[in-house]
Amino acid sequence: MPAGETLDYRLLLDAATAAARATSGQGHVADYIPALATVEPDAFGMAVATVDGELYGIGDWERPFSVQSVSKLFTLALAMAHGGDTVWRGVGREPSGNPFNSLVQLESEHGIPRNPFINAGALVVTDRLQTMTGDAAGAVREFLRRESGNPLIDTDPVVAASEADHGHRNAALAHFIASHGNLENPVETVLDHYYAHCAVSASCRDLVLAGSFLARYGVRADGTRLMSRSEAKRVNAVLLTCGTYDAAGEFAFRVGLPGKSGVGGGVLAILPGRAAVCAWGPRLDQAGNSVAAVTALDTLTTLSGCSIF
Ligand code: DON
Repeated sequence: MPAGETLDYRLLLDAATAAARATSGQGHVADYIPALATVEPDAFGMAVATVDGELYGIGDWERPFSVQSVSKLFTLALAMAHGGDTVWRGVGREPSGNPFNSLVQLESEHGIPRNPFINAGALVVTDRLQTMTGDAAGAVREFLRRESGNPLIDTDPVVAASEADHGHRNAALAHFIASHGNLENPVETVLDHYYAHCAVSASCRDLVLAGSFLARYGVRADGTRLMSRSEAKRVNAVLLTCGTYDAAGEFAFRVGLPGKSGVGGGVLAILPGRAAVCAWGPRLDQAGNSVAAVTALDTLTTLSGCSIF
């Protein structure tokens, strides 16, 4: 579809929802963080925010859910906005081909995580954002509130505590990274801020508004620039190649957009120059990506012919 052509987002959201609903029963709600297992498994919502300021939503699009790894998009963007290229000294930008919480590559790669979206990489980015701002999780919450205009966005303390109580893997990753000298702050501080930004509750509505700066090539809701156009391209590139972990190839094949998933069931995707789109359904596939949300985004780009390819 030519770049200038307008899309009928209402029609696309209807069709995407029908496709997502047809996956009902497939996949499992994340339960390795026990507080996440209390969600309604077949909830579904989807929203679109265009660069022209239009907002569309369907289903449970205004219902808050645990954003989990979707928050990593914002920690990376804020660390780049504050620190420019310095963040890339401690983290790579290659797909890992491994699960999001894998420990195996860290040892052979000397404590430098493959990319900012696997847990190991997100811990490093959280650490740098903590150094830059003094309050990494607070910086993420404040950004989400401002961009979405929703002052109620906050960390769910029950989810954060549940993550910490069952966080042996993340603690192992953080200590291992620290043993290689790749953390600037104490492990406990980094883990606290990491859990606090993962445990933020926000809706599809909130996330499309907060993610729109990437569709606007780095420009925030108030017209100021968060990052250069080139940096926005870089964030989108890493989202495409690493945002859905070892399923990034499949996500590019089916959806064809930069996107970030979380084990709360949300996926935030970007149509550069056009819109941000978020779909949410709590049932996950083997890689930890929402079955319903990926199906909905696949339907949207397939029917509209609108992807980055
Ligand atoms: O650290 C964790 O395991 C979670 N806070 C985030 C993992 C996650 O969302 C992976 N995404 N699909």
